[in-house]
Amino acid sequence: MTNRKPGNQLQTGTTQQKVIGIIGTGGHAKIVTDIFQLVEPQTQLLFVSAHPEQAGAYFNPYRIYPDQAGELARLQAQCNKWHVAIGHIPTRRQKLAQLRRLSATITSAIHPSSICADSSTVGTGSTICASVVVGADTHLGEGTIANTACTLDHDGQIGSWVNIGPGCHLAGHVTVGEGSELGAGAIVIPHVKIGKGCIIGAGAVVIRDIPDDAVAVGVPAKIITKKRKSED
Ligand SMILES: CC(C)(COP(=O)(O)OP(=O)(O)OC[C@H]1O[C@@H](n2cnc3c(N)ncnc32)[C@H](O)[C@@H]1OP(=O)(O)O)[C@@H](O)C(=O)NCCC(=O)NCCS
Repeated sequence: MTNRKPGNQLQTGTTQQKVIGIIGTGGHAKIVTDIFQLVEPQTQLLFVSAHPEQAGAYFNPYRIYPDQAGELARLQAQCNKWHVAIGHIPTRRQKLAQLRRLSATITSAIHPSSICADSSTVGTGSTICASVVVGADTHLGEGTIANTACTLDHDGQIGSWVNIGPGCHLAGHVTVGEGSELGAGAIVIPHVKIGKGCIIGAGAVVIRDIPDDAVAVGVPAKIITKKRKSED
């Protein structure tokens, strides 16, 4: 997070003040906070945490509210839009579904230093971090995170609930299935298809298709195991 001072200690409930609700208070929430402070400096933020001990505390400098029954519905009425800033994929997915049930407006967080081609699309609730490049005709599903300085070249199909690690490079025509995670610095050569629910290790170079639920590491990437169901 930066040392910029938004100077907007939380005063929710006013009609004029825009408020973005953010679910999550971990490392990814710091990145998302930085994005919203840059993109919407006049907008207030409030945070919702699943950790009861954080309720009433401040997430530099914004108030943290507890994630408990009824509270989200009350806060939803005070927020113009919401973003789920949680790296853990099943939790992110669950929280976005919860917000949808409350008819909340979900927003993506797109860093102004990122470059997204006009012909690319970014699904609802996604995070595009600093220095990311999304190439022509590349499409990202909902709730997907493209971490710092990753590049997703042309004609890519990135499913929903995918995490692309910092510094990853996906060449043209790469497909990544729903719920997969690519570790920091992974490289994927053109036309490779990574299945759903896969984990690609940090620094891997993926040169062949990877089936659903596989964990693959190394250069070139080799499958070391199938993901256990309990890891979801
Ligand atoms: C792939 C990964 C998920 C495996 O984690 P794990 O299930 O705890 O696996 P282990 O650490 O027990 O390692 C299993 C084996 O794979 C090897 N291995 C693990 N990660 C590796 C990697 N990135 N590259 C090469 N080999 C790797 C280990 O050396 C070990 O080999 P061994 O059995 O011969 O000793 C993890 O190592 C990884 O790379 N995560 C990426 C994290 C990341 O970058 N996240 C981005 C956050 S923004």
